[in-house]
Amino acid sequence: MADGEGLKVEKNYHLNTPFGTDSGFHVKGAAHLDWGMKRHLTNIFHPQSGNTVMFAFDHGYFMGSVSGLERLDLLIPQLVDQVDVLMATRGALRTCVKPDFRKGIALRVSAGSSMINDDLSHEIVSVDMEDAIRMNADCMAVQTFIGADGQLESIDNLSRVINAGNRYSIPTLGVIAVGKNMERTDQYFKLATRIVAELGAHIIKTYYCEKFEEIAAACPVPIVVAGGKKLPEAEALTMAYRSMQGGARGLDMGRNIFQSRHPAAMADAIGKIVHSKFTDKEAWEYYRETAK
Ligand code: R5P
Repeated sequence: MADGEGLKVEKNYHLNTPFGTDSGFHVKGAAHLDWGMKRHLTNIFHPQSGNTVMFAFDHGYFMGSVSGLERLDLLIPQLVDQVDVLMATRGALRTCVKPDFRKGIALRVSAGSSMINDDLSHEIVSVDMEDAIRMNADCMAVQTFIGADGQLESIDNLSRVINAGNRYSIPTLGVIAVGKNMERTDQYFKLATRIVAELGAHIIKTYYCEKFEEIAAACPVPIVVAGGKKLPEAEALTMAYRSMQGGARGLDMGRNIFQSRHPAAMADAIGKIVHSKFTDKEAWEYYRETAK
């Protein structure tokens, strides 16, 4: 039942109070999950910092060969040492990533649109659960379009993947896509992240915005922040720093790494913010030193 005007009490996010059920496990909201789930989540979130650097290069599933991703076989070997997780399609992983890669895998399992569509919000689940198991995926990524034309089918996709993943202890990463009529406001991200978490996603990927700390506080699972369009490196590092200060548990960054002139140095600098408590200024200095 919708609240009528004037009926809501003021919200309190208890920003200075840590999340209640961590019980010693390093991943938010995962304390009561089983061993297999925790094992996969530990392949994503580092047990010491509790955080992750995910490198997203799944853009080809609807954008084709975007600038910077023309030759995955040449790019990925430069970055595997700098990141904790590769987020990609099964086609990219099978063709361009050596199976002896020992870090986490976030497998893109939804698809159905392309850049020439007017509305990107209509997707299907494109990868069978059995294939995700064969690829030893540590989580399965599903796009969600809360408030968009494709909301119902994306919630259906997400729910199917969560249900299947729960049977085999593989976590689901709910990706918050901003539909064409939506805006990147804290109100929207509070709504979308909470809906996707309550539907059972184990990790949420969303964008940074004002009042991000309230979004993170109200989300009972870890949030990783997408990079979005390419920014100057110093600005991208500031966005990463503010995200972590606001309660994100990592970055899931694509273009701001692979469209940088120095992708490995950029990924490395992001890692310093995520795992080593560097400020944005320190990370920028580090980037400038290592990019020489
Ligand atoms: C988009 O739908 C994909 O999930 C990308 O992985 C995501 O947008 C992150 O990449 P970027 O940092 O380039 O925004």
